[in-house]
Amino acid sequence: MNGKGKVVCVTGASGYIASWLVKQLLQLGYTVKATVRDPNDPKKTEHLLALDGAKERLQIFKASLLDEGSFDSAVDGCDGVFHTASPVLLSSNDPQADIVDLALKGTLNVLRSCAKVPPIRRVIVTSSMAAVSFNGKHLSPDVMVDETWFSDPAFCEKSKLWYMLGKTLAEEAAWKFLEENRIDMVAINPGMVIGPLLQSQPTLDSSSSVMPVLNLVNGVKIPCKTYRWVDVRDVANAHILRELYPNLNLPEEYTEEKASEPNYQVSKERAQSLGITYIPLEVSLKDTVESLKEKNLINA
Ligand SMILES: NC(=O)c1ccc[n+]([C@@H]2O[C@H](COP(=O)([O-])OP(=O)(O)OC[C@H]3O[C@@H](n4cnc5c(N)ncnc54)[C@H](OP(=O)(O)O)[C@@H]3O)[C@@H](O)[C@H]2O)c1
Repeated sequence: MNGKGKVVCVTGASGYIASWLVKQLLQLGYTVKATVRDPNDPKKTEHLLALDGAKERLQIFKASLLDEGSFDSAVDGCDGVFHTASPVLLSSNDPQADIVDLALKGTLNVLRSCAKVPPIRRVIVTSSMAAVSFNGKHLSPDVMVDETWFSDPAFCEKSKLWYMLGKTLAEEAAWKFLEENRIDMVAINPGMVIGPLLQSQPTLDSSSSVMPVLNLVNGVKIPCKTYRWVDVRDVANAHILRELYPNLNLPEEYTEEKASEPNYQVSKERAQSLGITYIPLEVSLKDTVESLKEKNLINA
């Protein structure tokens, strides 16, 4: 793929996933218009500005999800837009405002900016496995969950699954809005994301995507369930880590006594048909730990 001469926008560009996206897009030759909330905060921009190709082809824009029109200049002139910006937050004192509204209204705000400049052909929305399978339907180990398995907003609301609710409403609204405006859309639905961090000073609070991995390698007791970054073999993840890093303070026990069976499978067909070859879990775990070590976030 050659991005030479093409311009794309990445929203929430300083984030864990988006930083890698910007890096890869620059490597492919794209010009990247990257949005962050605070362009004057070096924590959010210095790792992006240091990327290969950034000097020539990276432009930083200030934009905030609920500021109407604040993405206009960033998406103007773009061939495609990658919308990743969204709070990664499971709970809050005001979940409607802090989680649901930001995800849904923020997505529509970005998309309205896209619709103002017709040359935008495609919007890639970073959705989540949170928008899939939280619908109360019966799950069993032989069920294959794929893109037909949308989460049900009413179920999420009743179950107080605010992050799932926000991601589901945002993806649903994006499909509708972009279809009405004849813009091509792709939704990406990752499970739990692990891997090395590009940010030199990553945010480490309850909204950080890095916290689940940091908690794991810092010995915090975690629920013993199947995480979606891995299939059935993820029961082995702590063992793999221990083998590679014998000095890590891994949890000795889980919050439950008995390991639960993976209760469904996730279809990889779509991604594989696009030529995605998955990085083996062992490599992801190793690279994650190495990256945390480099940043002095853990001793291993
Ligand atoms: N990490 C995972 O395991 C995972 C799994 C599935 C899906 N996802 C999805 O992937 C996307 C990126 O997540 P991530 O893991 O990379 O999280 P992250 O590192 O926390 O990045 C989230 C980004 O959203 C931006 N953002 C948050 N609130 C905003 C607001 N009010 N206005 C503008 N920007 C705002 C942040 O911008 P600033 O830097 O300017 O604060 C940040 O760059 C999200 O849509 C998330 O739901 C993540």
